[in-house]
Amino acid sequence: MRIAVYPGSFDPFTLGHLDILERATGIFDKVIVAVLENPNKSPLFSVEERIEMIGESVAQNGNVEVDSFDGLTVDYAKKVGAGSLVRGLRATSDFESEFQMALFNRKLAPEVTTVFLMTSFANVFLSSSLIKEVARHGGNVDFAVPESVAKRLARLAENRGQ
Ligand code: PNS
Repeated sequence: MRIAVYPGSFDPFTLGHLDILERATGIFDKVIVAVLENPNKSPLFSVEERIEMIGESVAQNGNVEVDSFDGLTVDYAKKVGAGSLVRGLRATSDFESEFQMALFNRKLAPEVTTVFLMTSFANVFLSSSLIKEVARHGGNVDFAVPESVAKRLARLAENRGQ
C-alpha cells in the first residue's frame, strides 16, 4: 500500500490545502494529514480543533486520515510506514525553502521521498497567515477556506465582538 504523509501547520486548513490533499489521494492509497504540534508557535486554533476541521472537510474521503505529530516529519513518516511526503507549491517563492527542506529530509531519511504537487491556479494566492490576518480584521475569507473552517472563524469573530 502506498502511504503518504501530508505534513503542515494547517492553522487553518485552506482550500489550497484541500486541493493538494485531493490531488494526493488520486496518487496514493492512503494520505495521512499530519498536523505539527509546534510549541514555539502560538496558533489561532489548537491542534485538536485543526484535526477536527480537517476531518470535517474531508469527511467523504475514505483514504484520508488526520493525525498530529511532534518531532521530525521523517520520523513520523517512518513510524506510519509512509514512503512519501506531500508538499504543495504555489509559486516559485515557495520553492527555495521547500527544496532545502526536501533535501534535508532526504539526508535524514533517504527512503522517504518528497513529492511536490501544484495547487490549481484559483488557489495560488491563498495562505493561512493572510487568511488569519484578514479574518482578524473582520474581512470575509469564506472563499478561501472549507465550510468547517469558515464556521469557526465566524465564531471567533463573534466572540471578539461581544
Ligand atoms: O505548513 P508549514 O508550516 O509550511 O509546514 C512546515 C512543516 C511542518 C512541514 C515543517 O516545519 C516540518 O516538517 N516540521 C517538523 C520538524 C522537522 O522535521 N524539521 C526538519 C525539516 S528539514
